Amino acid sequence: MKQALTDLQARDLQHVWHPCSQMKDYEQFPPIVIKSGEGVWLYDENGNRYLDAVSSWWVNLFGHANKRISQALSEQAFTLEHVIFANFTHEPAVKVAEKLVALTPPGLNKVFFADNGSASIEVALKMSFQYHMQTGKTQKKRFLALTDAYHGETLGALSVGGVDLYNEVYQPLLLDTVRAQGPDCFRCPFQDKPDSCQAQCIHYIEKELEAHHEGITAIIIEPLIQAAAGMKMYPALYLKKLRELCTSYDVHLIADEVAVGFGRTGTLFACEQAGISPDFMCLSKGLTGGYLPLSVVLTTDEIYDAFYDEYGTMKAFLHSHSYTGNTLACRVALEVLTMFEEEDYIELVQQKGDVMRKLAIEAFSHLPYVGEYRQIGLVGAIELVADLLSKEPLPGEERIGYQIYQRALAKGLLIRPLGNILYFMPPYVISEEEMRFMIETTRQTIETFFAEREEKVCSSDQQHSLL
Ligand SMILES: Cc1ncc(COP(=O)(O)O)c(C=O)c1O
Repeated sequence: MKQALTDLQARDLQHVWHPCSQMKDYEQFPPIVIKSGEGVWLYDENGNRYLDAVSSWWVNLFGHANKRISQALSEQAFTLEHVIFANFTHEPAVKVAEKLVALTPPGLNKVFFADNGSASIEVALKMSFQYHMQTGKTQKKRFLALTDAYHGETLGALSVGGVDLYNEVYQPLLLDTVRAQGPDCFRCPFQDKPDSCQAQCIHYIEKELEAHHEGITAIIIEPLIQAAAGMKMYPALYLKKLRELCTSYDVHLIADEVAVGFGRTGTLFACEQAGISPDFMCLSKGLTGGYLPLSVVLTTDEIYDAFYDEYGTMKAFLHSHSYTGNTLACRVALEVLTMFEEEDYIELVQQKGDVMRKLAIEAFSHLPYVGEYRQIGLVGAIELVADLLSKEPLPGEERIGYQIYQRALAKGLLIRPLGNILYFMPPYVISEEEMRFMIETTRQTIETFFAEREEKVCSSDQQHSLL
């Protein structure tokens, strides 16, 4: 049944084309008009509230309308909003660069600013390629990427992505990328368990490197969690082995920490858990605590030096975005980084992660159709399956995740699933009581959804037997 639209909903549907959406779905399920936010909560125009368990696409760290960040942003807006970043600079950008160099793994000394996650991927891919062109390794023209990888939606980023849903239609436009099977701990081909495994599946990358390393410029990876593929988590040992392979085959390692950076996995950066330094690190999302688009690519002196020469050699990295190093976004990032310095948010994520794990295991481990509950830091995921033993996926066309999402929203919870994988990635300020609400609402929604689904199947079976 169609709902009556509010004025803003109707006007939105007149002109706005929403991201990652089949707009026809909005006929039955119009966009929710959010008027304000506070902490983990979003408030709509009718006064309903929703717990933002996905941190508004994984960006928010310290809650909506955070007073400290809003204050810093507001003061900056009355001083300087933006300035061309070629030949000009400003204090917030310099301070952000200094802090990031100090906080990220050793060796990452240079910071290139861009304005969103996908743009940072483009920068890292282009830098790696150009580095090799300028250091005499002109045969290195391809990237190696993993199945189920996600690095954004621009064409370069899609070329190294491996989620068919986003890539397939654009295949004819994409770069010729070498693909290796990625880790899959839930359906491990070696029947290993993540806590004891020796990351045997690194062998898939090794095989491709053996065959193609001379032509490969870089490997790109999402450290510890392949997020968009369904919060697929894998052990740090895999990353450690990957770093060794990259070094021995003379291939750059690009760590895409756009989703996992800034404490999500229980350490400030996921690479720390493997004790590795990549050649490039891409950061965005949490960098501004969910306030403004901004991204950076950190890299080494060695790579920077390959671009550093007289102008006439044409070795410069001639890449720019109009909003590169935007002053407002940098000022916000500076506040976020200062907050990390002043308060132990990493400890907080670990503590809250422990509470979330305990509550989630109690709630989900005996539910039908829950194949697995997995978690790292403050990222938890429930993989729904058709059969617990075989782990057979539920039929995609039923859009079960989407139906559960709608039902949870009606109860005041925003969990936007990835297919049939439901996940929690709440802002770090979530309280224990709010976590209980998030998990209990999810549990009830899953339970009632599948009970009704089974009832429908039974009644349609009965009708068939009567015919
Ligand atoms: C790992 C990863 N890389 C890159 C991106 C792209 O970032 P953006 O959406 O800001 O372009 C995303 C977005 O979700 C991501 O999860």
